[in-house]
Amino acid sequence: MRPSGFYQRAGRLQGGMAPTLRPAAPADAPLIVAVDAAAGLSRAPHVPALVAELLGLGMSWIAEADGAVAGYAIVSRRFFSRPFVELLAVHPAWRRRGVGVALMARCAATHDSDRLFTSTNRSNAAMQALLTQTGFEPSGVIENLDPGDPELVYVKFR
Ligand SMILES: CC(C)(COP(=O)(O)OP(=O)(O)OC[C@H]1O[C@@H](n2cnc3c(N)ncnc32)[C@H](O)[C@@H]1OP(=O)(O)O)[C@@H](O)C(=O)NCCC(=O)NCCS
Repeated sequence: MRPSGFYQRAGRLQGGMAPTLRPAAPADAPLIVAVDAAAGLSRAPHVPALVAELLGLGMSWIAEADGAVAGYAIVSRRFFSRPFVELLAVHPAWRRRGVGVALMARCAATHDSDRLFTSTNRSNAAMQALLTQTGFEPSGVIENLDPGDPELVYVKFR
């Protein structure tokens, strides 16, 4: 595996193998659940089955490094039938090395519409910074999902 151009350009490779991105398949669901566990992200009990279903849409991406999953982005069309990044997570061992940006850039480059949506909580400053860095712009607010922590919707146009 060679470091990708992205990592070389960004100058963020800090030792070890650079992750490579590949399309995610339903069989990857357990690997994604393992990243969530390593990241301490608690998901509802139905999420593993839902993840496998969404991976079957063929719109999602996995970042792999050293034979393990460094991060993932799950994309669907369940948001007003628009391409929407439902979940993005990076393994704690791979954070702040451009994996999240690379995954979002890949999602933005490969969907089949003229715009890609995603959302994050107002409390998630890291994700908001990442979205600004990858060319997303604010596209509304949804109240009353998480109490006291509105969901900020973002869009990136082609
Ligand atoms: C948010 C998350 C995906 C970022 O992944 P990542 O690979 O570490 O992000 P990147 O290295 O690509 O960072 C890109 C930019 O995002 C911002 N950022 C990322 N992590 C940050 C943090 N902990 N604090 C502040 N800004 C942060 C920075 O602007 C960063 O650029 P910089 O490193 O040049 O300063 C990761 O922290 C994560 O998995 N968090 C838990 C799950 C989550 O919140 N998912 C998103 C909502 S669904």
